[in-house]
Amino acid sequence: MSEIWNKMKKWKGFRSLKVRIFFIIVLGGLIPCVILHFGILGRYMDNALTVRTNEVQTQVRIIADHLITYNYLLDNKNDVVNAELAQLSNLYDGRVLIIDSNLRIIKDTYGISEGKTIIYEEIINCMKGGGATNLLRGNSYIEIAVPIEEKTKDSSRIVGVMLTSVSCDSINTSYAYIENRAFLIEILAMVVVFGLAFFLSRHILSPFEKITEEINEVKSGFTDEDIKVTEYIETERIGDAFNQMMGRMRVLDESRQEFVSNVSHELKTPLASMKVLADSLLSQEDVPAELYREFMTDITTEIDRENKIITDLLSLVKMTRTSADMNVETMDINSILELMLKRLGPIAARANVKLIFESRRQVNAEVDEVKLTLALSNLVENAIKYNIDGGWVKVLLDADHQYFSVEVSDSGIGIPQEAIEHIYERFYRVDKSHSKEIGGTGLGLAITRSAILMHRGSINVTSEEGVGTIFKVKIPITYIAS
Ligand SMILES: Nc1ncnc2c1ncn2[C@@H]1O[C@H](COP(=O)(O)OP(=O)(O)OP(=O)(O)O)[C@@H](O)[C@H]1O
Ligand SMILES: [Mg+2]
Repeated sequence: MSEIWNKMKKWKGFRSLKVRIFFIIVLGGLIPCVILHFGILGRYMDNALTVRTNEVQTQVRIIADHLITYNYLLDNKNDVVNAELAQLSNLYDGRVLIIDSNLRIIKDTYGISEGKTIIYEEIINCMKGGGATNLLRGNSYIEIAVPIEEKTKDSSRIVGVMLTSVSCDSINTSYAYIENRAFLIEILAMVVVFGLAFFLSRHILSPFEKITEEINEVKSGFTDEDIKVTEYIETERIGDAFNQMMGRMRVLDESRQEFVSNVSHELKTPLASMKVLADSLLSQEDVPAELYREFMTDITTEIDRENKIITDLLSLVKMTRTSADMNVETMDINSILELMLKRLGPIAARANVKLIFESRRQVNAEVDEVKLTLALSNLVENAIKYNIDGGWVKVLLDADHQYFSVEVSDSGIGIPQEAIEHIYERFYRVDKSHSKEIGGTGLGLAITRSAILMHRGSINVTSEEGVGTIFKVKIPITYIAS
């Protein structure tokens, strides 16, 4: 059985739900048929034979008593008994033999064997007191041997045996008739079951086909309407999930388009400035050398800006790749931070901002040094850039047994509450006009966030305008691969 099941599972068509439903319905329809056939028809035959045997046995016992009453074993000419015997053999299309204690046949309703001796195991057993025996000869007749007992007040003695064979033809005929009818009904049931299975397996699955069709239509771009197949809760759920997925994809697509247009815009701005500067130099004759120098300085600044945008974009692309690009090593975080702050020292000094580093403990963690340094120096650079003259920036390192945290707080201008949710977006800057003097592309925090997420860490910000900003980064000490 399990072998058949395994073979079925290997068959490609069996993976189709339609085929499975078809099989289930067919089996569900045919099993009752088989049970009915073998259960009822089989029992009918047994039952009919038992009823017939009991009936005949009762009659034979009555006649056996009459044999004693009329002393038939000594004189077989008794009309009453002979009439009863003839009636019995006519009724059941059978033959009755009366055998005396010497195993001699004293009456045969066929009249062939009278006077002959019969040696027959059942008869001898019956004679010895084995009681009545019934034998089924093939399916065509039943033989019933009943002892003829002479009863006195306190004893009984077996004086002969009555052997009756009864034809089963009538039972067989009705059995054959019923079997024929059953066969016809079974064929009919099978046709109905197969038809029903074929129809239902298609009908039940039609909503799933409909949903596939609708998905295909969306896929091939015929429509971008939401799909809705409400026949089943399941199809409705598939539709909802698909619609949500499409929604997310549309959002992604929009953000991609926005990103591309932002990138082009940001890349074009320095180019446009350079063009204006170069054109104005070219359009004038005898330009003084100082003006040349001034314009060329401006052009160099724009080239630097263009360069920074491209470098930042490349970093961002690197940060959005998979964790396979992570170059994880166990590093001394204290040293990384010290080195980073040392590098940023001159920038802070130029802005007249004090850099403070506080470490609560020595931390060693599995990180990608380059990415982590980039992420954290963006935060410190921002804290310096968006600070006040004479302000401070504090970097605090702490750790528990699972995570280490780096907190970058400043005494700067702060971020307006409504801007906080946007600061990680690419090219987002709070105050475009003011930010222009400060310089920047709005990619820094996007890079920081991606780098921290690649470390399976988190970043949080709290800020108050005019007071300052606190960025809190939390990263697992042991790198979690995926
Ligand atoms: N510490 C801070 N204090 C006040 N505003 C901040 C601070 N950090 C970030 N911001 C605001 O968030 C915006 C986004 O910061 P982000 O670092 O992404 O870009 P940026 O600094 O403008 O440019 P860059 O790509 O050069 O870093 C900034 O323009 C600034 O307005
Ligand atoms: Mg920045």
